[in-house]
Amino acid sequence: MAYSAKVVKRFEDVLKNPTAHSVGRFDPADPHIGTGMVGAPACGDVMRLQLKVVDNIIEDIKFKTYGCGSAIASASELIDMLKGKTLEQAEDITNKDIANALSLPPIKLHCSVLAEESIEKAIADYRRKDNYRSSDG
Ligand code: FES
Repeated sequence: MAYSAKVVKRFEDVLKNPTAHSVGRFDPADPHIGTGMVGAPACGDVMRLQLKVVDNIIEDIKFKTYGCGSAIASASELIDMLKGKTLEQAEDITNKDIANALSLPPIKLHCSVLAEESIEKAIADYRRKDNYRSSDG
């Protein structure tokens, strides 16, 4: 199976300079941080994505992927799509957007699903904290 040139470039860019490509971790207890962690049933790989949200805008993002090159490339592509977006705009991004941007082969589509699911969970985690804050008197 041949990876597209875009996947290879993304993957290599992240490996060369992980910090510049948002690899890392925020404190999950921080009320401005939403954390999404998901596993891919197809392969057992895992992705964690964390959003820093201020006034409904995604200000910063960190991720870690214990998975294949296309999962890492998918996370990196997704992060570029997410920065500066509202949570509602972020919810509109699907794995198809990521897969199309990277020209993922069909056998690797589940890697982009991992990225989509991680953002959904991160948004849900942030909203759960936000609701808790709002109801806290
Ligand atoms: Fe597991 Fe890509 S093969 S996420």
